[in-house]
Amino acid sequence: MITVNRIGKHLGAEISGVDLSKPLADDTFAQVAKAFFDNEVAFFRHQKLTPEQQVAFTRRFGVLEQHVRKESRLKDHPEILIISNLLDENGNAIGSQDAGRFWHSDLSYKKEPSMLSALYSLEVPVKDGRVLGDTSFASTTAAYEALPAETKQRIDGLKNVHSYRFYRSKNIEAQKQEQARGGRVIQEHVLTDDQLKSVPDVETPIVRTHPVTKRKGLFVNEAHTSHIVGVSPEESERLLSELYAHVIKPEFVYTHHWQPGDLLMWDNAAVQHKATFDYDLPLRRLMHRTTVRGTAAV
Ligand SMILES: [Fe+2]
Repeated sequence: MITVNRIGKHLGAEISGVDLSKPLADDTFAQVAKAFFDNEVAFFRHQKLTPEQQVAFTRRFGVLEQHVRKESRLKDHPEILIISNLLDENGNAIGSQDAGRFWHSDLSYKKEPSMLSALYSLEVPVKDGRVLGDTSFASTTAAYEALPAETKQRIDGLKNVHSYRFYRSKNIEAQKQEQARGGRVIQEHVLTDDQLKSVPDVETPIVRTHPVTKRKGLFVNEAHTSHIVGVSPEESERLLSELYAHVIKPEFVYTHHWQPGDLLMWDNAAVQHKATFDYDLPLRRLMHRTTVRGTAAV
């Protein structure tokens, strides 16, 4: 029997009574899946998972993605994306150092954006007894439901463009500014032409219906949305700023304080998330991410 403990007002729950290293019985898995979609973000503490076990558990939800950044995948486990600030013996990043500085949902720039991501924490940075590198999540469904009626009407039927190119240039610009301030330097993998071709821009509705729960949510994010289609650049900018500010109001946010052994999953059709860069080497952070493919946003 699993226990589900809701933490945030609109999202975030701890699920206990489950050992994810073992295959779950069908009824237990069904309970876990229901608790996950009901709570949008769910985590399991004190797990001991090999890459194979993480892959096996998350594969129960669907087909696993292999990230466009080949260099950041775990050797012999292409379904696992390494998210870490660690370097190899040559000083190169062992995985993706960019844990997500802007609010985003994973792979929203793909034609079939990710259904869910699962992050397993192996090492977390600790300073003066405090764990650093929190991840924050915002419920786009609760945020949509709380919008004023006139805003709902305004965005009904509007589409936005999710663009990996837009994200790359925004990220590079932000890093330049960060470095100019003497901040953290993040190594970037440069994508090949073929890798870039595999992620063309996509148009999606701003208001997306969740494929499982059928709840409506806001499917725009500051990392990947380049603009709203069919309105002036000024109006696009104005509406997007309004929506971005709304989604991250404290009542819609759950912030996760990591422990080693956490397996945390989030629903990319229902939440956005953002990393905190308040740690650096020699403080070590090492996480393994698996991502389940979703369906086109409608
Ligand atoms: Fe992310």
